[in-house]
Amino acid sequence: MLKRLSLLTLSSALPVIVLLCTSSGLPVPGQTKTGSATDKVILTVDVSKPGARIDRNLFGQFAEHLGHGIYEGIWVGPESKIPNTRGIRNDVVAALKDLKVPNVRWPGGCFADEYHWRKGIGPQRLVTLNSNWGGVVEPNTFGTHEFMDFLDQIGAEAYLSVNVGSGTPQEAAEWLEYLTTPQATSLAKERTANGHPAPYKIAYLGIGNESWDCGGNMTPDYYVSQLKIYSRFVRNFNPAQQGQQQMLKIAVGPGGPEPRFSEWTEAVMKAWQNHQWSWDMNGLSLHTYTVLNWDKKLASVGFGETEYSQVLKATLVMDGLIAKHSAIMDKYDPQKKIALVVDEWGGWYAPLPGTDPGFLVQQNSMRDAVLAALNLNIFARHADRVRMSNIAQMINVLQAMIMTDKEKMVLTPTYYVYKMYVPFQDATFVPVVFNAGSYVNGDISLPRVDAIAAKDATGKLWLAITNLDPNRSVEIDANLGGASGKSAVGETLTAPKVDSVNTFDDPRTVVPRPVSASVQDGKLTLKLDPKSVSVISVQ
Ligand code: AHR
Repeated sequence: MLKRLSLLTLSSALPVIVLLCTSSGLPVPGQTKTGSATDKVILTVDVSKPGARIDRNLFGQFAEHLGHGIYEGIWVGPESKIPNTRGIRNDVVAALKDLKVPNVRWPGGCFADEYHWRKGIGPQRLVTLNSNWGGVVEPNTFGTHEFMDFLDQIGAEAYLSVNVGSGTPQEAAEWLEYLTTPQATSLAKERTANGHPAPYKIAYLGIGNESWDCGGNMTPDYYVSQLKIYSRFVRNFNPAQQGQQQMLKIAVGPGGPEPRFSEWTEAVMKAWQNHQWSWDMNGLSLHTYTVLNWDKKLASVGFGETEYSQVLKATLVMDGLIAKHSAIMDKYDPQKKIALVVDEWGGWYAPLPGTDPGFLVQQNSMRDAVLAALNLNIFARHADRVRMSNIAQMINVLQAMIMTDKEKMVLTPTYYVYKMYVPFQDATFVPVVFNAGSYVNGDISLPRVDAIAAKDATGKLWLAITNLDPNRSVEIDANLGGASGKSAVGETLTAPKVDSVNTFDDPRTVVPRPVSASVQDGKLTLKLDPKSVSVISVQ
């Protein structure tokens, strides 16, 4: 099991939010939850200075062969009584389609560095062991073709992680030839015999996973030499991917704030800066989880405001981490050609009692909805460098979108945040400045409000505003900076308690409800509930 340092002890830095306007909501030292029930936050949108495109890939997912992430979560098999299409559950596909999932990272995670693709193709699958996650049997019934079929059903692109840890460049190269060549090679004929004559599109290729740890405990220099070899030889032959649509290669990047990860980023970026024609990369991954203590993880349910504020404080470390690694990347890549790809992140809590600890099963609460919104906002603010992210993990594992139990399925609070944020996919970031105010709980002080704005392809202005304070509602006065509109409509997600969850028996405790607000003289006024995430558009 992975072991990392506590984020809380590593950084107590809070994100800096530009203080432009003053209002009655100015941060007051010592302001407490017993303060006035509602006071104002003034927010100013500057539509005249559009920022970077918020890449749709920022809303990517991660599905590892881990616990019930794949088996039961996606794959039930064609013979199952659970309604399915070629073995893939229909309820899950329908729910994911609503999220417009841009890409799915697969097959791991740590699992990827022990995955041998040939065991998961053809009529006879080899039964192996999943030694990373519970030591359970891996039937390999969900393999390459099933993954690509799943992507096709939900309308997402493939982000394949190839095995650098225990595989070979040849094995990975053959996998890509099998997947992508239109020529009548033996591998292409095998693919045709297995039901797919046309070459597949593989949009993203991850070269290893956490190679500094579960992926082989490599030094930065050793990894760089592997990266060059895999980048050179693992080719995509799909004719449609030779130009604009070329497969993007993502190198293993840092895993947190420790100095060794700065050295890692330096080493990979320096190598790239000096790279020859024979190899290249397009992205650098970043993994970081919100966890207070790896040895004594917090519970995912049955917690109170203390743990709520502790977790939110810990998650805001993401901003500084991205800034730190972006600054290193800027030294070697000032034009920001290389994307920072946050392809593992999310809240990691103690396993639910009675579950296999190797399956990483946890509940998903209102706290996770706020956590998700805060991180998505951070990614959007760094959209010029952060162009892809993959929350861990899509179904039944860690901070999941969906949980299943046999034929039952429930959508989590995090799912609803992703659904509400769909309009931000490929929208243009619009700067928004506000007096965040403060939410204080004991010795923890957090911004009370967080917000981002963006314009979609039709020119419509969208605002996402989170009220972190679990006790006080907040009145927002938003100056729309010249954006025309008469009203604002959208959705808000809140819940009775910070640890409210959706369950199979009671799936609608944390679901969004519609909100509307008036716009007068370019100013929008609305009141947001305590501990809420809201997304609204100006019409
Ligand atoms: O998401 C669970 C695990 O966390 C992944 O397999 C690994 O890459 C990370 O450490």
